[in-house]
Amino acid sequence: MTARRNRQWLVAKRSHGSVSAENFRWAEDDVPSPGEGQFLARNLWFSFDPTQLFLVGLGEEAGPDSGALPLGSPMKGFAVSKVVESRHPTVRPGDLVHCHMGWEDYSVTDGAGFAPVYRIPENVPPNWALGALGITGVAAYFGVRDVARPQPGETFVVSGAAGGVGSMAVQLAKRRGARVIGIAGGAAKCEWLLREAKADAAIDRRTENVAQRLTELCPDGIDVFFDNVGGPTLDLALERLRSGGRIVLCGATSRYAAAAPVPGPSNYLQLVMVNGRMEGLLARDFLPRLSEAVAELLPLLLSGHLVSKEDVAEGLPSAPDALARLYSGENVGKQLLRMDEAL
Ligand SMILES: NC(=O)c1ccc[n+]([C@@H]2O[C@H](COP(=O)([O-])OP(=O)(O)OC[C@H]3O[C@@H](n4cnc5c(N)ncnc54)[C@H](OP(=O)(O)O)[C@@H]3O)[C@@H](O)[C@H]2O)c1
Repeated sequence: MTARRNRQWLVAKRSHGSVSAENFRWAEDDVPSPGEGQFLARNLWFSFDPTQLFLVGLGEEAGPDSGALPLGSPMKGFAVSKVVESRHPTVRPGDLVHCHMGWEDYSVTDGAGFAPVYRIPENVPPNWALGALGITGVAAYFGVRDVARPQPGETFVVSGAAGGVGSMAVQLAKRRGARVIGIAGGAAKCEWLLREAKADAAIDRRTENVAQRLTELCPDGIDVFFDNVGGPTLDLALERLRSGGRIVLCGATSRYAAAAPVPGPSNYLQLVMVNGRMEGLLARDFLPRLSEAVAELLPLLLSGHLVSKEDVAEGLPSAPDALARLYSGENVGKQLLRMDEAL
């Protein structure tokens, strides 16, 4: 019998500001066997997140808790995987799990680490488990519900609004009665925000003057800014924050590629002037409450009242390009990759 082969993308070169296929090396190896406390799983779907740049960019000197990957090791990302063989205390063969896995056909892991392994809830398709009902959805759901807490009629602005987290945040804020304005890159994304996500307005950051448009669209200021991109857009929102305004710090994609430490927002003192609040959230810390999010979001997704916008790349060879799309802004909705079926 021919031994099964394991195709992989290994980290080959540190990134300095951007990431492309050049940073990875294609390799093939034997399928590994699980040791005591580990399981072997076949990876079916991968998720892509802008912070993966750090896994490639940081050197070993950043320390073991930084997530930096040694050169020559498989690149990692969140995956939905089917357990093939298990010597793990709780995971069983046949289980469909969410785990932090290598970019490879098969991974061996103890399921601990960055976000511990969990079984995919019943009735949740794998693509939703990585997007609308995964870490992406959890960031949007708890970011809107627990951190932003929009009131009906409030003005709610979202950056990176047509991306994975942003597209969910826009729809969830709308459902809570806010007046929602999305900032995104490109006419097609803005069109999607208006037509399908039902945003009240959209700003194209590529062709429009964002400052001017925010002033026009928010004459009384901004009540909530849900920030996915950071940088100058965050400053513009701070400048326009209303009394009692909230800023949800979800991410800062525009800053991840910076070679040197980035300066803080230049006008943070605006928070003093408006009794404002700026608060971060880390979705993986909310994962123990995943069932709450699934209970509310799954029926909405199934009935079509909530749209899970996804951008699906096909096959493991496409993984580096799929990651690069997050920084070029080509992805519309959650960037995923479906593994080749013929294994
Ligand atoms: N806090 C948490 O626990 C948590 C969990 C998940 C994700 N996040 C963060 O949330 C953010 C969104 O993540 P996602 O997975 O949904 O990614 P995403 O928004 O789907 O993809 C990234 C998007 O960022 C925008 N972008 C890229 N470079 C930019 C730049 N230089 N300036 C402004 N915009 C730029 C592009 O959209 P446009 O061209 O349309 O602007 C791009 O499509 C990320 O910062 C991510 O790290 C945080």
